Amino acid sequence: MTVSLEQLRRCHVAVDLGAARTRVFVKGAGLVVDEPSVAAVNTRTGALIAVGALAEQMTGRTPDYIRVARPVSGGTVVDIEMAQRMLRHLLGEKLRRQLRRKPRLRAAASTPHDSDPLAQRATVETLVGLGARRVELVDTLIAAAVGCGLPVEQPTATMIMVCGAATTQIAVLSLGSIVTAERIPIGGNAIDYAVIQHLRHQHELLLPSQSVRPLQLALRGNGLNAQGPDVTEIHGRDVATGLARSVRVDTAAVRDAIHTPLTSVMDGIGKVLRVCPPDLVADLVDRGIMMVGGSALLPGLDQMLRDATGMPVQIAERPDACTILGLGAMLEGRIRPMTLDPLADSIPDTEPGARSAFPADAGGEVPLPAAADADAEVR
Ligand SMILES: Nc1ncnc2c1ncn2[C@@H]1O[C@H](COP(=O)(O)OP(=O)(O)OP(=O)(O)O)[C@@H](O)[C@H]1O
Ligand SMILES: [Mg+2]
Repeated sequence: MTVSLEQLRRCHVAVDLGAARTRVFVKGAGLVVDEPSVAAVNTRTGALIAVGALAEQMTGRTPDYIRVARPVSGGTVVDIEMAQRMLRHLLGEKLRRQLRRKPRLRAAASTPHDSDPLAQRATVETLVGLGARRVELVDTLIAAAVGCGLPVEQPTATMIMVCGAATTQIAVLSLGSIVTAERIPIGGNAIDYAVIQHLRHQHELLLPSQSVRPLQLALRGNGLNAQGPDVTEIHGRDVATGLARSVRVDTAAVRDAIHTPLTSVMDGIGKVLRVCPPDLVADLVDRGIMMVGGSALLPGLDQMLRDATGMPVQIAERPDACTILGLGAMLEGRIRPMTLDPLADSIPDTEPGARSAFPADAGGEVPLPAAADADAEVR
């Protein structure tokens, strides 16, 4: 999954197919789509009823004949056809026409760190089905680091933590490459689930999944940390009677419930730091960890990390959009290849196992899964 900046600069469109949200960046137009990765389908006719935010609103509120589908799961496209239909609708007729005019449409897509060839192939096929003649894959960690303005190409260590909906990816980067990285299958969804389970067990309250965010926001006052409010009132449905009920929830207990899934994330950080060369760890003591991804907005998560690691922790300016903005910056050639290419070239000699994001083979062929290389029919 190595791709040169030169090849990325030739792409017209970048796509980040996330478990929670789909984002599309069109060269020259910017971020044109940022919608939930959800599609609602009429099971009787097979017709698509809604996509994006509207389809997400339908979750849990549909009659029998409407199915709400999530074609991306765990950072992988699990239903290629549905993902294509969803993307087509999210792009809209005008944008699709504009992209169809490109004689050889090239697309870039982010894929989770260490994703298996099958997952990469699914992403590629989704975009090929939409008319892309070539698809370049970029590691999410590199795209996110570029997107939040980390000096990835410098010979100093930077640590990034991409907190998505399905996964959390942690990496130490230096000289434009990933030195060590971990992908943990715990993200915003697992945290939401922990809150729902806590309310169910402790308060016999069923909380609709869409109310978890308001709960987090309610706790936000002073953040989900020790200085926050002691109790918060939450509305839900009684598990036994099915009637609407509100309870006063102890904030500290919710914090503890959230801690449980976060333990594996903390372990992941420890693992990355243990494998990291000592010189780079020394850099990190000053620079700390940069948090990106939608779940980085979870109130108090940064403080939890600070307490657990003793390192400075920063949240990126637009954490949720960093990955796609990073891909966009690469597409529009806003990062300096002159510095990156020669440095990236020297990494394999210094750090065995380090993976170069920007090899110096500008203009070369990208090693893509077989299907990606084949020219596709433009629809
Ligand atoms: N303000 C917020 N507070 C807490 N959590 C939030 C907030 N905004 C978004 N999230 C969480 O962030 C997650 C979505 O983040 P993001 O858009 O980075 O995911 P994704 O890229 O679709 O997922 P992945 O990268 O794992 O495939 C959701 O789980 C959502 O619950
Ligand atoms: Mg993501």
